[in-house]
Amino acid sequence: MKTPILEGRKITKTYGGVLALFRVDISLHAGEILGLIGPNGSGKTTLFNALSRVISVDDGHIFFRGQDVTTMRPYQIARMGLARTFQVIRVYRKMTVLENMLISRSWRNVRPWDLLKPSHHEAYRRAWELLEFFHIAHLAHMPAGALSGGQRRLLELAMASMPDPDVFLLDEAMSGINPTLIEQIKERIIEMQEQHGKTFLLVEHNIQFIADLCDRVVVLHQGQVLAEGTPAEIVDNDAVVEAYLGV
Ligand SMILES: Nc1ncnc2c1ncn2[C@@H]1O[C@H](COP(=O)(O)OP(=O)(O)O)[C@@H](O)[C@H]1O
Ligand SMILES: [Mg+2]
Repeated sequence: MKTPILEGRKITKTYGGVLALFRVDISLHAGEILGLIGPNGSGKTTLFNALSRVISVDDGHIFFRGQDVTTMRPYQIARMGLARTFQVIRVYRKMTVLENMLISRSWRNVRPWDLLKPSHHEAYRRAWELLEFFHIAHLAHMPAGALSGGQRRLLELAMASMPDPDVFLLDEAMSGINPTLIEQIKERIIEMQEQHGKTFLLVEHNIQFIADLCDRVVVLHQGQVLAEGTPAEIVDNDAVVEAYLGV
């Protein structure tokens, strides 16, 4: 099989006495949509934080594009083409949607204030293109704080897309969103994968969403990988059902 684009090997992370992750292996292959599920507190966000280098790990290694990135800074791995969103939405509420888009590009050796000048054509062009792709161009001049939860999730995806990353880690991108917007986000993700070759790792509680989108699913339980397989295999797995329902 091909080398994974992103890989965690034997990742262990403790918080005080709490074992958040224990020897977790995870591989993400270029062009796939991988689902990460598990009960609350099973370590999903911690694994995202480890993979995107937001937290350091106690043990284990992280590889991105075949390179050991275990000790890299988050901005360095972002520059290599990895984007992530957070469980709690992070947008600048008082800035407009368009301004939020423009500052999302600031790590590309451009000073943030340059991006707010109308002369910065390329950034503007890309921001508008993405706002249109995510169907939020009509909100461009609204303060981001005035958007609905679902619209903000779309904005967050659009912002994450500004530097044109190859890999997206999305942490509960669908929580608290109405079904129409969920459909819209789903369509966008499929289009990004199918037409632009993007790779996704999704944490999601909505099993239907996972089943519709993912080629493969990894189940975490108490900081360890409990199961891995196709969505159909996972919903048929007794250990998974037990972990979720506690029966
Ligand atoms: N910053 C932190 N400090 C202390 N404990 C944490 C921290 N982050 C996560 N944990 C603990 O690690 C475990 C896994 O949490 P988390 O990764 O957030 O799970 P999930 O995203 O699957 O709900 C939980 O027991 C949680 O309380
Ligand atoms: Mg979480």
